[in-house]
Amino acid sequence: MTQTATEQGKVFARILDPASRANPYPLYARLRETPISRQDDGTYVVSTYQEIAALLHDPRISSDERKSSKEAGALAASGKLTPAGQPSNPPFIFLDPPEHDRLRRLVIQQFTPERVEGMREHVVELVNHLLDAKKNSQQIDIVDDLAYPLPVTVICDMLGVPREDEPRFHKWATLLARSLDPAQGISEAELKQTIQAATEIGEYMNGLIEARQKEPRDDMLSGLLASYRQAGRGERDLLVTMTLLLVAGHETTVNLITNGTLTLLRHPEVLEQLRREPDLVIRVVEELLRFDPPVQFRTRTTLTDIPIAGVTIPKGAAVALLLASGSRDPRRFTDPERFDPRRSDNEHLGFGGAIHYCVGAPLARVETQVALSILAQRLLNPRMEVDPPPYRENASLRGPEHLLIRIDGIRDI
Ligand code: HEM
Repeated sequence: MTQTATEQGKVFARILDPASRANPYPLYARLRETPISRQDDGTYVVSTYQEIAALLHDPRISSDERKSSKEAGALAASGKLTPAGQPSNPPFIFLDPPEHDRLRRLVIQQFTPERVEGMREHVVELVNHLLDAKKNSQQIDIVDDLAYPLPVTVICDMLGVPREDEPRFHKWATLLARSLDPAQGISEAELKQTIQAATEIGEYMNGLIEARQKEPRDDMLSGLLASYRQAGRGERDLLVTMTLLLVAGHETTVNLITNGTLTLLRHPEVLEQLRREPDLVIRVVEELLRFDPPVQFRTRTTLTDIPIAGVTIPKGAAVALLLASGSRDPRRFTDPERFDPRRSDNEHLGFGGAIHYCVGAPLARVETQVALSILAQRLLNPRMEVDPPPYRENASLRGPEHLLIRIDGIRDI
């Protein structure tokens, strides 16, 4: 039965409610009855594949929160990810062309296939090492014991942060994670903490940048430093970008590994296939990015009136692009509610699209492929303690807080 506009206008608030965190997908299905719906708080929610894809490509819609009419947007954009009292550009995920493109290009140059693929063996070692530490346990928390420590260690190693300094990054990454949230979700107190973490990381990074200036190495930081200099960009821009890489690549990857383990445990037949056919992991990870992605939605602001799907989104409106709903749109995917790694057509929206398409996608794929294959091979008789597991509050970067699993042991390598 179709709903009235009044009912539709309340659905996004229910999605944001923590009570819906474990399974927001039925609510997405309700939203898709109207591709674009105006919510009671004035936000326009876009829930269908075609419309999301169109808006991701539309230059009339902005990622720059400073252009948002909401005060919270301006407040958050002024402080998030930038050290206190030191005004600078927001990170390029919150910028529009041409500035976005210039800064993004400098980073893309450093994410070479050789550098990313070169990490694979190292990720294998890290995952095995983390699992070895749980060898004599009958229980493992996929979040605390594996998914959480892995991405920070990987990005630190790739950037060239010395091993002994890494524990500080774990703390910073956690504190800064919320800075990728829609601005209105951040309280004054949280914002303060975030700025404090950004300040600390800024001071640390400044020291590291200085060290690499004196003595360049074969790491990403030295590469970024050289390309930023060549492009005439200051160290402040570099610092903001490095913090972005840490933050954007952290909780997202944690959630993909955790959602992946959860989904495999709920689909034991696929887990069994993965054990027998390790190459299937490539398709498993793509299907996870469609079926239960870490980034559920991203927000934008309209720069002008945009007529689309029978609606006109007015200039200055906040727009939520519900990527996770688009990836389950039956008008785009056959049998979308089914977890099917062998589906032939899987152009999911898990990494976004168009000019803001995820820079770290190749690295996230390597980390998750390695983690899930090793888990499938090494965990003996894994079974879930609680289903659904407890979730973190965050609705846009969505994932379990813990995922406790009983095991009969961990297989030797
Ligand atoms: C499973 C893990 C990941 C997922 C699901 C994910 C998802 C996304 C999505 C959906 C966007 C688009 C944002 C938008 O349109 O506003 C994005 C952008 C971005 N991601 Fe990721 N990401 C992941 C891992 C990473 C990693 C490992 C890194 C870096 C080390 C990274 C760096 C970035 C950056 C820098 C952007 C901004 C790109 C731009 O604005 O041009 N991500 N990511």
